[in-house]
Amino acid sequence: MATLGWWSLFGAALAGILVFQGSFCASEKAPNYSFMHNATSAPPTSYYDYIIVGGGTAGCPLAATLSQNYSVLLLERGGSPYGNPNITNLAAFGAALSDLSPTSPAQRFISEDGVINSRARVLGGGSCLNAGFYTRAAPFYVSEVGWDGRLVNESYQWVERVVAFQPQMREWQSGVRDGMLEAGVLPYNGFTYDHMYGTKVGGTIFDQDGHRHTAADLLEYANPSGLTVLLHAPVHKILFRIKGKSRPMAHGVVFRDALGAKHRAYLKRRPKNEIIISSGALGSPQLLMLSGVGPAEQLKAYNIRQVLDQPLVGQGMSDNPMNAIFVPSPVPVEVSLIQVVGITHFGSYIEAASGANFAGGSPRDFGMFSPKIGQLATVPPKERTPEALANAVELMDNLEEAAFRGGFILEKVMGPVSTGHLELRNRNPNDNPSVTFNYFKEPLDLERCVQGIRAIEKVIDSKPFSRFRFDNLNVTQLLNMTASSPVNLLPKHDNTSRSLEQFCKDTVMTIWHYHGGCQVGRVVDHDYKVLGVDALRVIDGSTFNYSPGTNPQATVMMLGRYMGVKILTQRLAGMTQSR
Ligand SMILES: Cc1cc2nc3c(=O)[nH]c(=O)nc-3n(C[C@H](O)[C@H](O)[C@H](O)COP(=O)(O)OP(=O)(O)OC[C@H]3O[C@@H](n4cnc5c(N)ncnc54)[C@H](O)[C@@H]3O)c2cc1C
Ligand SMILES: *[C@@H]1O[C@H](CO)[C@@H](O)[C@H](O)[C@H]1NC(C)=O
Ligand SMILES: *[C@@H]1O[C@H](CO)[C@@H](O)[C@H](O)[C@H]1NC(C)=O
Ligand SMILES: *[C@@H]1O[C@H](CO)[C@@H](O)[C@H](O)[C@H]1NC(C)=O
Ligand SMILES: *[C@@H]1O[C@H](CO)[C@@H](O)[C@H](O)[C@H]1NC(C)=O
Ligand SMILES: *[C@@H]1O[C@H](CO)[C@@H](O)[C@H](O)[C@H]1NC(C)=O
Ligand SMILES: *[C@@H]1O[C@H](CO)[C@@H](O)[C@H](O)[C@H]1NC(C)=O
Ligand SMILES: *[C@@H]1O[C@H](CO)[C@@H](O)[C@H](O)[C@H]1NC(C)=O
Ligand SMILES: *[C@@H]1O[C@H](CO)[C@@H](O)[C@H](O)[C@H]1NC(C)=O
Repeated sequence: MATLGWWSLFGAALAGILVFQGSFCASEKAPNYSFMHNATSAPPTSYYDYIIVGGGTAGCPLAATLSQNYSVLLLERGGSPYGNPNITNLAAFGAALSDLSPTSPAQRFISEDGVINSRARVLGGGSCLNAGFYTRAAPFYVSEVGWDGRLVNESYQWVERVVAFQPQMREWQSGVRDGMLEAGVLPYNGFTYDHMYGTKVGGTIFDQDGHRHTAADLLEYANPSGLTVLLHAPVHKILFRIKGKSRPMAHGVVFRDALGAKHRAYLKRRPKNEIIISSGALGSPQLLMLSGVGPAEQLKAYNIRQVLDQPLVGQGMSDNPMNAIFVPSPVPVEVSLIQVVGITHFGSYIEAASGANFAGGSPRDFGMFSPKIGQLATVPPKERTPEALANAVELMDNLEEAAFRGGFILEKVMGPVSTGHLELRNRNPNDNPSVTFNYFKEPLDLERCVQGIRAIEKVIDSKPFSRFRFDNLNVTQLLNMTASSPVNLLPKHDNTSRSLEQFCKDTVMTIWHYHGGCQVGRVVDHDYKVLGVDALRVIDGSTFNYSPGTNPQATVMMLGRYMGVKILTQRLAGMTQSR
């Protein structure tokens, strides 16, 4: 043990962990979407009943649904996920996140808080990058938001038929599950998509072969003659018609193709036709501002013609804090992504992931906590030059296999209650806006984190988990190991591992569940219509006040389907009435 030198190996273990085994041989059958085209082939001007901006986790199910009865244009700034092993294979998790090229499906951003983060730039959105955990929102959340529970359930089922699977539970995840039960996260609810207090096994969008199924797969449901999907089509602004004193009305969009050519798409002149923004928590408030709907002083600062002074666009941005403890294991552990979750009464969710991949010298630097994706690392952030990274990777390659054994037990603070804000940096929709999340600004979030870490300590000390930890490394030392590793761009203190409050603050990471910016009741109404203008909605994670479920993607996809059905039925009802 001592000869392994845990302290120095720790960062390397963090970096090497969570590199997933999956079969690269079986190639995913790419669907032949006859309606999917490169934006370069689009005409300069075109007309549709619905124009959806953003082919992400919400945009794809929404487009598929509306295409049943209307002509729909779906504009996505990124490319196709099909045929890209970095997206399709579970084993490659982290590869896309660490690819910083302009064609990467992941666009890195660093919040003003100093936490390294990422957002999607690909058809299918965040569901092409994420850790795959699939779980529904609580019935309480559904009723609080005011959704129709029956349609919500039907919409979840519509999504689940195509993208959700039951994971295979093995030893390490079972140890965490049983440890959670001993720690009092009760009752045990078995395998379920439902959100209930206690410990459960959730769903995953990875199938038994380790292949990812994304929101783009929901386009299978589309009516091919009703849908046009354009890739590499970043929208630069929404166009408004402003007549006298009447409300501004959205009626078209401007997008550019990969060669820089400008295209315009307009709504056909029929009442009830609409533009829907589904560009994600960063993209949707950003596009509203770029189109003249936002805080007046910001529009002025960037010389954007004001359509509507809306100071709440970009407000209410939140990212749920994630803190993790790495637990080295004396025995080999399986490679697992999040499978088990503990839903506690004190407002934090406990999840876990394990394993490392040594087969065939596969890249160890692609894990969920790797230096390249920037969460936890041996290399301090400011020194992360390509050379330093290469050295770190080489160092890892020379380490004993045992250094990589183990897993992370993490906790996510629900909500959260702390909020921040988003501002433009320039007028380019392809660039990241500036975003501040204010992790732990509210004491309740910090309290929930501390209680979550205490629960993790109990799991580590539990009997069922004892096989997977070293007896001579107590939880204080494990905390110290995590605290000693550089995390994000955050400062460390002498008391980082002595005070759980300080540990939470100094080792906070993202679990990538950031949301807000176009919240219901502030920027959009309960039908997701943008307040103060006509023919414009926002439907995606930017509308959430709190992150739904333990993990949000199931509910984001559900919302796309749910609102699609609602829009169709309301329109049909309106037509019957006016007849
Ligand atoms: C690494 C990672 C791990 C995660 N793990 C999990 C998990 O295990 N389980 C879970 O439930 N959730 C997870 N999440 C969260 C979940 O994936 C997101 O909450 C969800 O995908 C957000 O969906 P969205 O529709 O709001 O935005 P997105 O899916 O990001 O969609 C927005 C789309 O709009 C496009 N776009 C933006 N601006 C423009 C523009 N101007 N013109 C044209 N297109 C534009 C983007 O390219 C993107 O495709 C994870 C997320 C990440 C990134
Ligand atoms: C895809 O579908 C189109 C139209 O349905 C067809 O013309 C084309 O040959 C198909 N391509 C492949 C690779 O199957
Ligand atoms: C789209 O077209 C542009 C211009 O022809 C080209 O550079 C780009 O590679 C194309 N993208 C795809 C995915 O085909
Ligand atoms: C996959 O990711 C790696 C590393 O991040 C990158 O070098 C490679 O170009 C990516 N491949 C594709 C097809 O995007
Ligand atoms: C929806 O399904 C959940 C279980 O997933 C159930 O608890 C709830 O009662 C259902 N709601 C309705 C309105 O059927
Ligand atoms: C953990 O181990 C360290 C070093 O052996 C020791 O100083 C400390 O008291 C132990 N803490 C607990 C809670 O047992
Ligand atoms: C870890 O423990 C060592 C030895 O007790 C101590 O010097 C160091 O400050 C601790 N590190 C952190 C980040 O708490
Ligand atoms: C930890 O130390 C820092 C600086 O020394 C101090 O500001 C902070 O309040 C301390 N944290 C706790 C929780 O005591
Ligand atoms: C969709 O179109 C079909 C065929 O025109 C029609 O029967 C149906 O009522 C429409 N449904 C909705 C929800 O608009």
